[in-house]
Amino acid sequence: MKDEKPGTGKRVCIVGASGKLGHYMVQHALDRGYEVTGVCREKSIDKLAEFGSSITVHGGATNDRAVIERAVEGCDAVLTVLVPWGVNDYSSGTAQAVLDYAPTARLVFSCGWHITRDGKDVYGWKIKAAVAVGRLAKLARLADIGDQVEACRRIFDSRTRWTVVRGSDLEEGDAEGLPVWSRHVGDPILASNRTRRIDYARFMVEAIENDELIHEAPAIVGRLTPSALAHAKAAGSLPGLRFGVGTLHAFAEVSVAHHRRPPTARDEIARAWNPGRA
Ligand SMILES: NC(=O)c1ccc[n+]([C@@H]2O[C@H](COP(=O)([O-])OP(=O)(O)OC[C@H]3O[C@@H](n4cnc5c(N)ncnc54)[C@H](OP(=O)(O)O)[C@@H]3O)[C@@H](O)[C@H]2O)c1
Repeated sequence: MKDEKPGTGKRVCIVGASGKLGHYMVQHALDRGYEVTGVCREKSIDKLAEFGSSITVHGGATNDRAVIERAVEGCDAVLTVLVPWGVNDYSSGTAQAVLDYAPTARLVFSCGWHITRDGKDVYGWKIKAAVAVGRLAKLARLADIGDQVEACRRIFDSRTRWTVVRGSDLEEGDAEGLPVWSRHVGDPILASNRTRRIDYARFMVEAIENDELIHEAPAIVGRLTPSALAHAKAAGSLPGLRFGVGTLHAFAEVSVAHHRRPPTARDEIARAWNPGRA
């Protein structure tokens, strides 16, 4: 049987490709067989030189509708990963252009935990403080997190096949595997508030093919963080507990991994989850 990669024959546009997450996403997308188009500011094009001719790059402001129109043409999926810099509706302008010019593409949009889909998220002091700092940043005309809220409002209201991925604090480091997620910030599984950038990027890229994430706003956390491990263990000993679909899938994947590889650090999850089998 032909061993075809999931992205074979498909084109993905990564808006914000020159950023830290963007780099990882480009690599994951190429590894999965996608044809990759990237968008970044003209002055950042050199940051993508390492990918050479394996990707196509469109330079320009991402809220420039003409730039987005050219970049998303013929794309099966669009991933956006922007910090809402400036106070010129950068984030909502980018989102609106993508919604207008790629209405049938799979849309995966990155943001922080401060975005809420249904108002049921429960925020601790740290996120509230970050939002307060964000308001100060707007006053200083540096960034506008309120504009990311507006961008997400438009996406939630749209008819596109969207997923809004809500990231925890990010850190560099080796891959730990696909992050786990919950529908609501405040769920104890997210308490560690840490995800490796490389894993966040993988979640963004793999969301393209995961229809269970369509019209979901997963709040994600690293699968090997203490809070994720604690809840893997609880899921094993208290079957009545409920988690987001992705959480259960992630734990199931770890359990399968336990049987097909020599023991690794990741197997610690499986051991914690089902001590009797370890
Ligand atoms: N950092 C965190 O702890 C954290 C937590 C939760 C969620 N996130 C999400 O992660 C994503 C970004 O993460 P990242 O680590 O990849 O960020 P990043 O490396 O700082 O860059 C993100 C993008 O923003 C662009 N950018 C930077 N300065 C700009 C400016 N003045 N005007 C226009 N564009 C500018 C960058 O383009 P250039 O290459 O041209 O500079 C890059 O494409 C966002 O969606 C954010 O909501 C981050």
